[in-house]
Amino acid sequence: MGVRSAAVATGRSSVRDLWKRARRRAGRPLRRWARPAGQNPAARPTKARVTPSPAPGPETAGAAPPPEPAPAEPWLTADRSDAARRWVDEIGQRFEVDRTVVAKVPGHLTRSSQEQFKAWTRWRRDPESVKQLMLAEYLLPRIVRRFERSWPSYMEHTPGHADRSREELLALVTRLGPWRVPFQLAHGLTTTNFGDFRDGVLRQRYLFRREVITGTVAELLGERLADTTVLDVGCNAGFFSLDLAARGAKHVHGIDLRPENIAQAQFLKDHYGIDNVSFAVSDADDLPNDQWDVVLNLGVLYHVTAPLQFLHQTFNLCRGFAVVDTNCHTEPVSAYFVLSDKNVDRPTEGREPYELHPTYRGAIETLGYAGFSAAYDVVGITESPHDKYALGHRRCLVAVK
Ligand SMILES: C[S@@+](CC[C@H](N)C(=O)[O-])C[C@H]1O[C@@H](n2cnc3c(N)ncnc32)[C@H](O)[C@@H]1O
Repeated sequence: MGVRSAAVATGRSSVRDLWKRARRRAGRPLRRWARPAGQNPAARPTKARVTPSPAPGPETAGAAPPPEPAPAEPWLTADRSDAARRWVDEIGQRFEVDRTVVAKVPGHLTRSSQEQFKAWTRWRRDPESVKQLMLAEYLLPRIVRRFERSWPSYMEHTPGHADRSREELLALVTRLGPWRVPFQLAHGLTTTNFGDFRDGVLRQRYLFRREVITGTVAELLGERLADTTVLDVGCNAGFFSLDLAARGAKHVHGIDLRPENIAQAQFLKDHYGIDNVSFAVSDADDLPNDQWDVVLNLGVLYHVTAPLQFLHQTFNLCRGFAVVDTNCHTEPVSAYFVLSDKNVDRPTEGREPYELHPTYRGAIETLGYAGFSAAYDVVGITESPHDKYALGHRRCLVAVK
């Protein structure tokens, strides 16, 4: 017989009742609903949540959770600079922003991560929760972008290699392979196998991400794009660097760990004759302290072993905002999963066979730790959405400094 049922049978108090009584005697509420201002456990003392806190009150057994307050604004800190405020205003003016919250476990805005963790442990014991497993949470305001996929027009012009024959070009492209990213080249050549079904899925994914990532940056900056410098960390073959440069950025600098990726990016820059882009082999950990207006951190967060420091470095590198595009696990709790035995010979992997994958809530908390003052989800609405983004397994987050 367990402690609880023994107590019922004998009329004595259960351990939980004793605990509740002790808490009441000590004059403390049973649950601290609101995080006290200035006590953010994310280790950076300047941060404090700005969202409204419901009045503290005791949580009684079986009571419904408090209603989820809609976020009035993106909520990483109250301590926002004037420049950050201007970005937030600009985002509100330039985009359709959906502020409704979709939360599997309520209370994310008003509880510390530790309290959310407890709420999650209760949530996962409830058989009804299983029904919500596939639901994608949205805890940040969403920039909603409606589009049709399209190839960038620069792929139709190849002034850099106009003199090469088809055979010469094919030999060069083959020598630089294997390729992981689809590009259309001169003479009807392509970097990946455009006739293959799986490659079709890959192409659709890249064209979707192109709109969600570089399309959003270009639309947010408008005419200021021509004065904007961009760093693309972990650029691989340079798909997003080239795209943003071709959209009119002042200069885009792409760095990647692997020389073979940078060789591909450099070839493509020359092939398309795009001058306002440069590429270099570099480890993200060894970057100089230069600053760029915008930092693209795409598909890299979940390949590093120190994600908090990595995003803090992204924060230091950017003047205006960063775009963090990352795989996210969907468990409704702030957490990281450790993956091991990754094959680091693959050109898309990280430096080490270990990596940490965030949950969505973990990624948001990490942006807060890094120092960003506001954050948004970017959601792409199109005829056939990208499966990973639609299911919430991948997120494009715009983080304002
Ligand atoms: C999954 S791919 C993402 C490529 C591209 N940014 C995108 O979103 O499609 C990860 C890339 O990051 C690079 N990378 C991983 N760890 C890195 C590090 N510490 N410093 C620089 N590049 C890194 C890899 O070489 C690889 O090209």
